[in-house]
Amino acid sequence: METRLLGNSGLQVSVLALGTMSFAGKEGSPRIGTTDVDEARTMVDMCLDAGVNLFDTANTYAQGRSEEVLGQAIKGKRDRLLVATKVFGRMGDGPNDRGLSRAHIIKACEDSLRRLNTDYIDLYQAHGFDAFTPLDETLSAFDDLIRAGKVRYIGCSNYSAWHLMKALWTSEKYLLPRYVSHQVYYSLVGRELEYELVPLSLDQNVGILVWSPLAAGFLTGKFRRGQEGPSEVHRWSWDSDPAMQMSQDQAYDVVETVIDIAQQRGVTPTQVSLNWLLRKPGVTSVIFGARNPQQLQDNLQAATWRLTDEEMDRLDAVSELKPPYPYWHQRKYAYPRNPGIPSKR
Ligand SMILES: NC(=O)c1ccc[n+]([C@@H]2O[C@H](COP(=O)([O-])OP(=O)(O)OC[C@H]3O[C@@H](n4cnc5c(N)ncnc54)[C@H](OP(=O)(O)O)[C@@H]3O)[C@@H](O)[C@H]2O)c1
Repeated sequence: METRLLGNSGLQVSVLALGTMSFAGKEGSPRIGTTDVDEARTMVDMCLDAGVNLFDTANTYAQGRSEEVLGQAIKGKRDRLLVATKVFGRMGDGPNDRGLSRAHIIKACEDSLRRLNTDYIDLYQAHGFDAFTPLDETLSAFDDLIRAGKVRYIGCSNYSAWHLMKALWTSEKYLLPRYVSHQVYYSLVGRELEYELVPLSLDQNVGILVWSPLAAGFLTGKFRRGQEGPSEVHRWSWDSDPAMQMSQDQAYDVVETVIDIAQQRGVTPTQVSLNWLLRKPGVTSVIFGARNPQQLQDNLQAATWRLTDEEMDRLDAVSELKPPYPYWHQRKYAYPRNPGIPSKR
C-alpha cells in the first residue's frame, strides 16, 4: 500500500488507516461496534497484510475499552505499526478530568499507555480545541511527553483554521513541538473543510487524517433514496454524527453517482467513496471504520485501484457545496491569484 509523509514530519503512514472506535467488546454500544479482542486481532492482521500501518483510537472510545482491545490485539506486533490516540474528552467526574491542561494531558497519557499496554504513543492528538487552556501550556506538556519518550509525534483534531494557525504560531514562537497532523471529518457528503482547513494544511504542510470517510456508513451504497435501510443494526442515521450540511436530495444524488461509478468499474460503492478521498489535496491518510472483517476486506481494496479524472470530476460536481462568504467572493474575483480556492487536484 502507498505510504505518505505525515505533514512536516519524516513519518511515513499508509494511505488507509483503521479506526478502532468500534473495538469495544461487550462494553461497546451495538450501534457503534462491539468488536472483541479475537476479532480485533484478525482485523489488525488483515490490515498489516494489506500494508496498513496506522491504527487510530481515543481514550474516550467506549470509556477506554477501545484502547484496551487495541492494546491486546497488537501484542507482539507493536514495532510493525503506529498507534494514534487522543486526549481532551471527559474521562472522570473531576474538573480536571477533561481538556488540554498540563494536569489532564500528563495523567491521560499515563492512562492511555497502560490501557494500550505500550511504552509509547506514535501520534498523540488533541481531540478538540480547549479555549480555557493556553496553547503554550498544552504544547509544553506534549513536549515533556515527547522528551520522556512516551510520545513520538503530536497532532490535533476538530480544530478551526484559526485554532490550528494559532497553535502553529505558538509552537514556532516558543520552540515547542508542532502539530504534524489534523484529524478532520471529510467525505463526499461533507466537504466544508475545503474552504479553510485544506488550504491551511497545504500552506503549512500539516497532514490531513480523515475521520468518518464513509459518513458513518451513509456512503456504502446501502442507504438509497426512497428505500428502507438495511435491517441489521447500523451506525448511520440522519440525526447522528457526522452532521450533514447538504440537502437530503443532494446527498442521495451523491450516493447514486457513487453506485453508478462502482457498477461501471466493478468495485463497491464503499471503495469509490474512499478512493475519492485518497485523491484529494492535502489528505495523508483516510481513517475508515469497519464493523467486521467482511467490511474490512472490502475497504482495504479501496487502495488497489484509482478513479479516473473524469470520475473524480463527476463526484466533485455532484457533491459540491455552495460556498459561504468570503469563499464565493474569492472564487469569483481572486481565483487566479489564489489557486487553492477551491482546492484542486
Ligand atoms: N477525531 C474525531 O473526532 C473522530 C470522530 C469520529 C471517528 N473518528 C475516527 O474515525 C474512525 C472511523 O470513523 P467511522 O467508523 O465513523 O468511519 P466510516 O468509515 O465513515 O464509517 C464506518 C461504518 O460504516 C459501515 N461500513 C464500513 N465499511 C462498510 C462496508 N464495506 N460495507 C458496508 N458498510 C460498511 C459500518 O457501520 P454499519 O455496519 O453500522 O453500517 C462502519 O462502522 C473511528 O474509528 C475513529 O478512529 C474520529
